[in-house]
Amino acid sequence: MSTSSNNRSSSYAIDPIFLDRWSPRAFDEKAVISDQELMTIFEAASWAPSSFNSQPWRFIYARRNTPEWSRLFDLLVPMNQGWAARASALIVLVSAKTAQPPGAPGPVPSYSHSLDAGAAWAHLALQATKLGWYTHAMAGFNVEDAYEALSVPADTFRVETAIAIGRQGDRSVLPPPLQEREQPNGRRPVEDLVMEGRFQS
Ligand SMILES: Cc1cc2nc3c(=O)[nH]c(=O)nc-3n(C[C@H](O)[C@H](O)[C@H](O)COP(=O)(O)O)c2cc1C
Repeated sequence: MSTSSNNRSSSYAIDPIFLDRWSPRAFDEKAVISDQELMTIFEAASWAPSSFNSQPWRFIYARRNTPEWSRLFDLLVPMNQGWAARASALIVLVSAKTAQPPGAPGPVPSYSHSLDAGAAWAHLALQATKLGWYTHAMAGFNVEDAYEALSVPADTFRVETAIAIGRQGDRSVLPPPLQEREQPNGRRPVEDLVMEGRFQS
């Protein structure tokens, strides 16, 4: 069993980083993230495994109080804008839909580009945790508009998710309904998720 200072616990002994990472919405609007920290976080993400080592992930980012910020922030749904406005940076993760297998004459459609990008997101979130930053992924954004707003070529790339990154702030910055939800959640028992040999419903 492992426990974390944020009151999470696991049945089996896992590294504390997995429990320490969680997705707050209360961010400290005074926090400024440096280029060095952002690049460290992106570098960790880039060490994720991927099919054929194709590394299909791309990260489009904007730091708050820069001219780029509104281009990403304006894509978020209002509910996410409400709390992500205090994040230090926003990221839109996109993945390349094709990969170049070794020895193939050209790129072929990739079965796993979204899976690979998900692995990169996990690396990113864990490295951020190591550095004392918090991440919060968001499906709640205008994906269709993202392609044009961020100049993502839709024929070859898929917009995957948006991510807010910031220092944890006081929950009092949130409206009351979100204050109540501002705590680390739990997980299903791992035994419910694991099947030996074949799928069981
Ligand atoms: C792909 C993805 C999309 C998500 N979209 C949103 C969102 O739009 N708004 C939000 O408040 N949280 C969003 N979340 C956060 C999840 O609700 C959160 O990760 C989940 O409840 C597990 O909690 P934890 O990250 O604190 O462990 C998203 C998470 C992921 C991975």
